Amino acid sequence: MKKPYVIAICQQKGGVGKTTMTINLAATLVRKGYRILAVDIDPQANMSTSMGYLVPDKRPTLYNIITNHISGLSNNLMEAIRTWEAEQVDYIPSNIMMAGVSGSISQYPNYTSVLREILSDPVCNRYDYILIDCKPALDLIVDNALAAADGVIIPAQTEEYALDQLYPTFLQCQKHHAHILGIVCTMYDPRYNAHKGVVEAIHTAYPELAFQQTISRYADYANSLNEKRSVHCVPGGEAKKQLLKLTDEIITRSGKE
Ligand SMILES: Nc1ncnc2c1ncn2[C@@H]1O[C@H](COP(=O)(O)OP(=O)(O)OP(=O)(O)O)[C@@H](O)[C@H]1O
Ligand SMILES: [Mg+2]
Repeated sequence: MKKPYVIAICQQKGGVGKTTMTINLAATLVRKGYRILAVDIDPQANMSTSMGYLVPDKRPTLYNIITNHISGLSNNLMEAIRTWEAEQVDYIPSNIMMAGVSGSISQYPNYTSVLREILSDPVCNRYDYILIDCKPALDLIVDNALAAADGVIIPAQTEEYALDQLYPTFLQCQKHHAHILGIVCTMYDPRYNAHKGVVEAIHTAYPELAFQQTISRYADYANSLNEKRSVHCVPGGEAKKQLLKLTDEIITRSGKE
């Protein structure tokens, strides 16, 4: 049976567009005919909320799945999988309980492999891609995401210090032998010379890693989070075109063409 390709969307800096990328990439991949499971490991649970997760419900969240797993209790992963109906993206939600999960995970012998073990459930083989939306940190749960990932996408907001801010995430990827699929420049605004400079600097420093397609600062992206819909729901729109091109690059690099 074919295994899913696991992508962690990761960068230790907050607010660079990780969640916006996760939900719009998930929706784009579904539109291209791929089956997607999105996993939220961030206690802020922005991805979950954007996909329509309403708390509390009686079903398990990622926190329950992880704590059961490390306690040796059986899990029914299907029960934790909801569907973002508007986009037909399946997802496992996070909640605030995930804020303390790294402490519990540290007690587990294979403490960086918990997420990988959970995602090796046969239920996951029905998906082509699993996207993991990381929190803005490099803690044990993010280590788990990197260790579970076949490829890592690092969003870099096109502002001052963007290049420097990539290093901690690079080092953490190296530590976990995580393959970097690519760096995507986000929230690019051509009206600012500084933004142009940052995009050029990233492409010069990492010509192989930087995705050709840059993501601009557009209201369509910002609205997708709070309006619980992807950029594809807006008629026309440059954001949609960018996403389609970026997704093609991601599909090619992940060998899922
Ligand atoms: N391309 C974009 N254009 C305009 N606004 C954007 C874009 N990408 C993200 N935003 C906005 O920037 C803010 C941060 O985005 P997002 O939540 O995706 O970042 P994040 O890296 O997931 O944050 P955190 O580190 O807190 O998880 C949000 O308000 C979002 O709507
Ligand atoms: Mg986020």
